[in-house]
Amino acid sequence: MAEDEGIITEILAGTHALIDLDAYTANIQALRAAAPHAELMAVVKADAYGHGAVYCGHAALAAGCAWLGVARISEGLLLRSNGISAPVLVLGPPNLAEITRALDANLTLAVGSRSVLDAVLGVAAGRSSPARVHIKVDTGMHRYGFEPHEVCDLFARLQSHADIAVDGVFTHFARADERDLALTDRQVAVFSDVVASLEAAGLLPRWVHQANSAGILIGRTAGSNLVRSGIATYGLDPSDELPAGPNFTPIMTVRAPVGRRFTLPRGEGVAYGWTYVAPETEEDAVVAIGYADGLPRQLANRGWFSANGERAPIHGRVCMDQTIIGAPPGLAEGDLVTVFGPERGAMSLNDIAAIAGTNNYEIATRLMARVPRIYLQGGTPVAWEQPLLGKRGYCRS
Ligand SMILES: Cc1ncc(COP(=O)(O)O)c(C=O)c1O
Repeated sequence: MAEDEGIITEILAGTHALIDLDAYTANIQALRAAAPHAELMAVVKADAYGHGAVYCGHAALAAGCAWLGVARISEGLLLRSNGISAPVLVLGPPNLAEITRALDANLTLAVGSRSVLDAVLGVAAGRSSPARVHIKVDTGMHRYGFEPHEVCDLFARLQSHADIAVDGVFTHFARADERDLALTDRQVAVFSDVVASLEAAGLLPRWVHQANSAGILIGRTAGSNLVRSGIATYGLDPSDELPAGPNFTPIMTVRAPVGRRFTLPRGEGVAYGWTYVAPETEEDAVVAIGYADGLPRQLANRGWFSANGERAPIHGRVCMDQTIIGAPPGLAEGDLVTVFGPERGAMSLNDIAAIAGTNNYEIATRLMARVPRIYLQGGTPVAWEQPLLGKRGYCRS
């Protein structure tokens, strides 16, 4: 207990992320309310979009999610080695060399190509229990999945195969986060034809799923008994055209300490390239976060941090490990500033993404392993994680 307290004190004094598990739970409840007839898969790939897959995975299951989704087998193995025994679907084409390990760990594999199917069948042959798979159908994303016309025959062939258990069928939307839903509705129609043919042939598997966060928010969930959400569970918008809405709150706040406060004389510049030159003598502060922590360099002279609720503009280039801001009165060395998060005055991930010319998914997943995390419930730390050191723990009270 004392050791945990010490680690939390250390983490909170440095650059860190706070993950609000109450907000995560509330976001999950809002998604479940939006698709009440379906179970929810919390997508925790890419280390839960930068929020930490182990504790988000546990919290998602505690909030009632039936499944977790990952992209790679190694991500599924991380969940298994951290006490998660719930169903986990590996959504992407798997590393064929890791299939044995996936089956040993009881991970469910998305099979969406002939070569992956052959590899799974090869590994599954003669094992004591069949390989559990979901068949992916390409209805328009054109990334991974069987052609819709192949699916019924495939299911018929696999039905009699003792080495494989087909537990689900699914597809993925390409443009459900846009105003124009023509392609999405075409995908829905193609997929429901596939599902109808499977049903008519008596081959419908246990799980049928198509909607991602955007699909859930726009209500394209009919005919499914499972929906998959990543971005909205973290309280983030699927796109500028499809905001998540008032029922969702971003769950991550990143804070960093001031390492030095100094006076910058008029006419002097800061950091590499002197891209900011003080118009008048001013007070600046050096904050311990940089592009190696995941902060885009495009924020130079455009972004801002929040210091005691006040906007502190970024001055000059974002360095690898440090960034300079104009220091509001009262900001002292050792004080924490908010780099981004839902608090008033702070940049949101949308603000950062807009400046960097990308989307909030990319900014969230860029957060680097050297930024430790504290998980909060009821405003108090319940768990901590230092990804760089491979350490994590619950806070016992
Ligand atoms: C197959 C699949 N399903 C679901 C998701 C979750 O998408 P979102 O984060 O937009 O909810 C993803 C993420 O890219 C995905 O690849």
